[in-house]
Amino acid sequence: MSASRTVITPVLSGADPAAIERAGELLRAGALVAFPTETVYGLGADALNADAVRRIFAAKERPADNPLIVHVADVAAARALVREFPPLAERAAAALWPGPLTLVLPRAAIVPDVTTAGQDTVAVRVPAHPVALALLRACQRPLAAPSANRSGRPSPTLASHVSADLDGRVALILDGGPTAYGLESTVLDLCHARPLLLRRGGVSREQLVALLGPVDVVQAGDAAAIARSPGLRHRHYAPRARVELVAEGEGEAAAARALAGGERVALICRRVVVSAAIVRMLPVALEGFAQALFATLRALDDEGVDRIVVESVPETGIGAAIMDRLRRAAAG
Ligand code: TXA
Ligand code: MG
Repeated sequence: MSASRTVITPVLSGADPAAIERAGELLRAGALVAFPTETVYGLGADALNADAVRRIFAAKERPADNPLIVHVADVAAARALVREFPPLAERAAAALWPGPLTLVLPRAAIVPDVTTAGQDTVAVRVPAHPVALALLRACQRPLAAPSANRSGRPSPTLASHVSADLDGRVALILDGGPTAYGLESTVLDLCHARPLLLRRGGVSREQLVALLGPVDVVQAGDAAAIARSPGLRHRHYAPRARVELVAEGEGEAAAARALAGGERVALICRRVVVSAAIVRMLPVALEGFAQALFATLRALDDEGVDRIVVESVPETGIGAAIMDRLRRAAAG
């Protein structure tokens, strides 16, 4: 399916210093550059340039009410974007940055409205990826970067996923190979009396509680929180095929039912199974499962399956983020 596609956007190795230099120039000039992070690939623009940030929304076809995460090289650069960097932020940043944790804090006036979708807060993180950090240092700008997928598609974990979704809509793609976590960062709101977990991700709730004390979790019906973090509401993470989430051990039966209905069916699980469906056995370790999940969903779409049956995983550690993404994909 992708074999006949004409590639317009150059894909350059993120390990090449000349490519980083070129990407930095493009970003300073207001263009879009996709780059790897430790979570997923990001679609970057100068976070302080409103016209550049508008191009992100256009390229992704992203709803204008969904704010962006601003990536910075270090804690000092994060402080410059906020009015207040409270003690809990200091503690989280010292322990977990660079890393897959995004902090929502009161925004400083230099951050344009379009970046925060008009909110009085800004989401910031220091990514733990050598290419992302080299790029931030080269361009000397904070970079607004949502995941580099078309809105509603699974986040990209390979440069080829970015090409598939955004070829011709972005000036340059930096290739850093497969991303380590495979799921997006944890989003933690520190603007209230108690930390509020807005999105599960690479840093688990258990880790946050051990570090910061009690952490509330946004509830599905919390209209105020969802208004502040519209990413919770928008359809997300969905392949084209229908996703059916079943309990562990129930995959073969669910696949058999769909096959009997005449569908092309794939089954994703962590066990050896006997099934007439296309079987994708992912690693038993949840870190490996997370790393492979989005790429597997995309590959099955490319194979033209109608339905993807996925067996649930335990909701411990990164398993909570995996199940969050699977529930959203199944609801799509
Ligand atoms: O791992 C990641 O976080 C990746 C990489 C590229 O860094 N980025 C990413 O961005 O996943 P995106 O745009 O796909 O998701 C950003 C999430 C959305 O759910 C959005 O609603 C939330 O962060 N968000 C951003 N700014 C916010 C704010 N000021 N208040 C509350 N939520 C915010
Ligand atoms: Mg996204």
